[in-house]
Amino acid sequence: MNQTIIVTGGAGFIGSNFVLEWVRQGLGHVINLDKLTYAGNLENLVEIQHHPQHTFVHGDIGNQALLAELLAKYQPTAVVNFAAESHVDRSIHGPEDFIQTNVVGTFHLLEAVRAYWNGLDQADKQAFRFLHVSTDEVYGSLGKNDPAFTETHKYEPNSPYSASKAASDHLVRAYHHTYGLPVLTTNCSNNYGPHHFPEKLIPLVIHNALAGKPLPIYGNGQQIRDWLYVEDHCAAIRCVLKTGKIGEVYNIGGWNEKQNIEVVRTLCRMLDAKKPREDGKSYADQITFVEDRLGHDQRYAIDATKIARELGWKPVETFETGIEKTVTWYLNNQDWVQNVTSGDYRHWVQKHYAERGEEMA
Ligand code: NAD
Ligand code: DAU
Repeated sequence: MNQTIIVTGGAGFIGSNFVLEWVRQGLGHVINLDKLTYAGNLENLVEIQHHPQHTFVHGDIGNQALLAELLAKYQPTAVVNFAAESHVDRSIHGPEDFIQTNVVGTFHLLEAVRAYWNGLDQADKQAFRFLHVSTDEVYGSLGKNDPAFTETHKYEPNSPYSASKAASDHLVRAYHHTYGLPVLTTNCSNNYGPHHFPEKLIPLVIHNALAGKPLPIYGNGQQIRDWLYVEDHCAAIRCVLKTGKIGEVYNIGGWNEKQNIEVVRTLCRMLDAKKPREDGKSYADQITFVEDRLGHDQRYAIDATKIARELGWKPVETFETGIEKTVTWYLNNQDWVQNVTSGDYRHWVQKHYAERGEEMA
């Protein structure tokens, strides 16, 4: 079906991958609303900047009047909400933006969507979907032998970021329960792939390795994350949008639990092979253990049985194939990396890692 949709946060990491693929597959017109914070980057969308099926709008999900205008003008059949402040470490330094966008912004978005949806005729009302993109972090941290998170796992967010995402999930749920808004929520594990901002572990390590800088490992590096290639996440979202049951939550994950140190050592091995250091030594020599993240969650793991069983989605990439594509993308797109690591980025890494005793300028 050819659909007009509004995507929020479509200039960021996952949102841009989603928008690009939507347009490439000819699935319909995307109105892409993004505030262009430090994490939003129009360079991610160059491929479709003049495409008739892509309309970029610079704006905030907290701007209800703008949202009302866009909804009235484009009459979308769905809204997919990626817009958020997304970096845990930034939420520890300064939680306010996270409350503003993730909680208050989602509230204004829901209010605008509710008003629009109420005005639709019966058939359009039934067809409409609001899909909220959330995270596994809302479930808190797992012990070594605990079963992976299912959709009924209790909410135990531990960081200001995850607490703000949990609050937004609750609002989305309440808008369905109270007003009947046809919502879908997805809770996904750690993504990696092209356009990943180099403040996050995988792109940061690739960037620092090539720049001859320390590869900072928080604490002992034995924390576990469950990695999913970004295109698999985007495919899962399209699948939920198309066939998900209204009001339901779907956990999305790659069945790829890895310790951080294991991920970093894999990246070093791949870079040693693809772009050896001039002195012949391994990039692993740059690994540096630094002070741990405050309140660091030990382990995340997603049980993605429900989405596989009910909707037939499964990841295509293994960690090995996905990380190979990712490293190759970063090596081939060093201009992109140079552009996003200027200005505000330098300020962030200096401040954040200086507190951990590392000079990253
Ligand atoms: P990102 O930080 O790369 O991108 C966020 C985008 O949202 C940016 O383009 C930014 O400009 C935009 N934005 C921020 N505040 C806005 C506002 N008030 N109004 C409009 N746009 C705004 O984030 P990401 O990693 O692509 O994550 C996207 C979504 O997926 C988030 O909701 C995040 O919680 C969720 N998620 C991320 C991961 C992951 O591993 N990255 C995993 C699971 C879920
Ligand atoms: O689980 C999904 C979440 O994954 C998303 O909701 C978040 O938006 C996304 O940022 C990500 O959160 P994490 O905190 O898991 O990702 P990050 O890349 O920041 O860190 C991954 C792990 O690596 C984590 O255990 C912290 C550690 N780490 C991170 C950085 C930046 C380091 O050891 N050193 C670092 O310099």
